[in-house]
Amino acid sequence: MIRLENLPNAQKRGLDLVKEVATEKELRPFLVGGPVRDLLLGRHDVIDIDLTLEDDASTLARAVAKKINGRLRSFPQFLTYKITADGLPEIDIATARKERYRSPGALPTVTAGRLKDDLLRRDFSINAMALDLTTGELHDPSGGERDLAAMAVRVLHDQSFIDDPTRIYRAVRLATRLGFSLEAHTARLLDRAVAEGALASIARERIWRELFLAFEEESAPNAVAALSAAGVLEVLFGRRPFDRDLEDRLRRTASALDGTSLDRQVMYTAALLHGNASPVDLEGSGFSQKRARNVVQLANELPRFTDALAETTSDHQRFRLFKHASPEMLSIVAAAVPEEQSNVVRFQEFQSFKLPLRGNDLEVPLGPHVAKALERTREAVFTGEIEHAEAKTFAREMAIKYLDSSGQ
Ligand code: CTP
Repeated sequence: MIRLENLPNAQKRGLDLVKEVATEKELRPFLVGGPVRDLLLGRHDVIDIDLTLEDDASTLARAVAKKINGRLRSFPQFLTYKITADGLPEIDIATARKERYRSPGALPTVTAGRLKDDLLRRDFSINAMALDLTTGELHDPSGGERDLAAMAVRVLHDQSFIDDPTRIYRAVRLATRLGFSLEAHTARLLDRAVAEGALASIARERIWRELFLAFEEESAPNAVAALSAAGVLEVLFGRRPFDRDLEDRLRRTASALDGTSLDRQVMYTAALLHGNASPVDLEGSGFSQKRARNVVQLANELPRFTDALAETTSDHQRFRLFKHASPEMLSIVAAAVPEEQSNVVRFQEFQSFKLPLRGNDLEVPLGPHVAKALERTREAVFTGEIEHAEAKTFAREMAIKYLDSSGQ
């Protein structure tokens, strides 16, 4: 029995609104796919509002958007509408559809269909259920409820992974997220599809998108390690990025990311390619040049960086190294080398430490030597090498020294 009362307020309001409009207009919307699965599992935190109608999806979409003064966008090639409005979750409304895969890996041809067609075109039985919002009736033509109870991810037919090989990644990701297993026959079909080269029929871009979705999972380290273990990353990197330490690295990456706004895609990719990254590996990822450089640097230089760090004996030496490292590198170092954690925190404090001293205060000709001297002084005061009161004299001496040594 699905209970909608326990949903978060915004979601509940969204569904009530749809029901109200549907009654007014005598329409019959079904909640379909992921949200039905999550509701049956009691995962009420956040559900997507994904709706399907056999008829008149556009009437419902327009009426809902009008009622809340929301924004309505239409995607005719997918027979779908999206409604957005303040204080409400996004509402997706689609016409029930049939899909036909003309060739493996190609996007399917879409035509309007009945609810059952729409459910049976889907990836896994646990994603192929619909809840009639008007009557509360559950439609489950492929045994999804039974598979939920068995904690199994099961495809609906033997051709599923061949038709759409991105489902290979989706199966692994979903199983990891829910703590489910692949049903035995599905696992065999997946292995067979990979062995027969099904992944070669999809563009690298689509595979990267699936990998990035794995990075977004709450259990990202498990999801990524499972993808690697399933041998489905070889198609991107020409090798299986799986070594004994991969899981540890992924876990360290998760803790380095925790509570930060660091670049998750860069950091997980670097953890995968540890010690052996090249820009060629990143083709199709959509990384800008700068982010790609960051991945390669993080993956390849971390071991050297930690070795160099172990050799340092003063804050001055340490800070010099840290200044050349990206914030991602620093965060990983702090997570990977416990002894460095306090040094990294200290350096982060240093980065926001300011001295009330300007170039003009030094009474020397201006130029790059002045900026260098001010930076050297900021560090000397922060580390206690000199007293605060000595800052101006010290900075002036440094500026003169740098000016002399630059031969000006
Ligand atoms: N779907 C599919 N085959 C795909 C992608 C999606 O059959 N290659 C179907 C699934 O039934 C899925 C629905 O389309 O439930 C919506 O896709 P998506 O939003 O990606 O999936 P959710 O299950 O809602 O996943 P999530 O919980 O991660 O949002």
